[in-house]
Amino acid sequence: MQENQNQGKGDMTKRATKRRVKKSPGKKIAKKAAKKMNKKTASSVSKPDARKKGEQQAKKTAISAPKKSGSFTLTNNTTGEKYELPVFQGTCGPNVIDVRKLYDDTDHFTYDPGYTSTGSCQSKITFIDGDKGILRYRGYPIEQLAESSDFMEVCFLLLYGDLPTGAQKEKFEHDITYHSMLHEQINYFFRGFRRDSHPMAIMCGVVGALSAFYHDSTDIHNPRHRMVASFRMIAKMPTIAANAYKYSIGQPYVYPRNDLSFPQNFLYMMFSNPCEAYKPNPILARAMDRILILHADHEQNASTSTVRIAGSSGANPFACIAAGIASLWGPAHGGANEAVLNMLEEIGDKKNIKQFIKRAKDKNDPFRLMGFGHRVYKNYDPRARVMQKTCNEVLDELGVRDEPLLELAMELERIALEDDYFVEKKLYPNVDFYSGIIFRAMGIPTSMFTVLFAVARTVGWVAQWNEMIEDPSQKIGRPRQLYVGDDERKFVTLNKRK
Ligand code: CMC
Repeated sequence: MQENQNQGKGDMTKRATKRRVKKSPGKKIAKKAAKKMNKKTASSVSKPDARKKGEQQAKKTAISAPKKSGSFTLTNNTTGEKYELPVFQGTCGPNVIDVRKLYDDTDHFTYDPGYTSTGSCQSKITFIDGDKGILRYRGYPIEQLAESSDFMEVCFLLLYGDLPTGAQKEKFEHDITYHSMLHEQINYFFRGFRRDSHPMAIMCGVVGALSAFYHDSTDIHNPRHRMVASFRMIAKMPTIAANAYKYSIGQPYVYPRNDLSFPQNFLYMMFSNPCEAYKPNPILARAMDRILILHADHEQNASTSTVRIAGSSGANPFACIAAGIASLWGPAHGGANEAVLNMLEEIGDKKNIKQFIKRAKDKNDPFRLMGFGHRVYKNYDPRARVMQKTCNEVLDELGVRDEPLLELAMELERIALEDDYFVEKKLYPNVDFYSGIIFRAMGIPTSMFTVLFAVARTVGWVAQWNEMIEDPSQKIGRPRQLYVGDDERKFVTLNKRK
């Protein structure tokens, strides 16, 4: 587990493995590496009570067959034929209609672009009631977690299904801390990027490159390997993010410190330099921790579904997380926090708000109010409320209470929430509306905002990926389509084409 300390040893193992490559086929090496990994990790979990605990945790997160609670009858109005479709009931939220046999029985597919009515999996991780503005991780309301918990506890909760005991928390924090350093060769990847590269582009590339470092040692069907891969991703994301920033401003990379907490460490790697002492501000570290909690998971959103689909083929998990980062980058998803700040700067002054609201309502204008609206929330995003409170705390701490962008944002929110268009369409501020103002006040550049979202969401991605692999009903993700292109036509040779 103690990766930093074992780094040299790991390199030696790699060299030895390389030598063996010439003689033995790849599969054998993968098996040996997996065996080695089992041996290495077995010592920390070999006691019977630890095994029992592990089994209990596995039961807690395991997915079993869904409960049937009724059925729907589907009638083909052309032929009069009737088909029965089972209905499944979850713990909370709407029931689902099981259409898995629909094609076999009826020769029809369902059609649902954007998956607005499609459940793609069973999950025990996150529950959202968008109409009521409810968000819960493993049953705990987000407001309570943001108020009383911390990000490391939330990571444990998302991964294992329950809040940790004191001893479990200590061990988990230790495991994450001791995976935070990057293999030194990973640092060379940054140099291949242009200095002005968007940090999300760097994140996609460098996180994807991690798959090259941990491929043979990651057997996705081994729960222990999956957990070690998960720890690595959660732990290394802040280091990669901070390095991307340091690279862009021409400062040396700052290595993680094992005596700092997760959020303190991130601020330290972002803002310290070798020339002077740096002590992370505890209020800002707490705010950062809360922001990480708020972004940790959000059930089957675009990036999480991307991770699940990429992983459903059995792909390397580090590569799957890189795919999730790519999906998160877009302005309709995690890129919205960056877009909000750019929009507020473009609006510039309270007197211009009405003109921008008018543009947002105009169907012929692509402009949208960034940080407003949500696929699921048709009420105030519960994360936005906590975010607004955190925003005030941060601005008070930094003595920038009169931040003009905050005033502009609050006025924009007030005007939009009184406007019939936004009221009728139930468009409320979402999590990204206030996060950018906090990040900016902390000194984080706008282009890094979505990177922070990715750092926080990594635990959600890996928890969902683990859940998918463990789900016995898991299949490769493969939607169908309504083909509307040309029917079969005969090939025309070049000299006969008009
Ligand atoms: N400004 C103006 N009109 C909007 C907005 C907006 N921000 N959001 C939705 N609408 C309108 C939209 O034009 C549509 O109108 P109509 O029914 O007349 O065609 C209606 O509201 C429903 O919108 P939609 O695009 O069909 O809804 P969706 O569920 O497909 O999209 C969304 C959700 C988040 C992509 C969208 O609300 C949006 O683009 N918001 C701005 C970007 C943003 O803030 N994204 C961050 C989401 S929260 C972070 C995260 O979890 O990723």
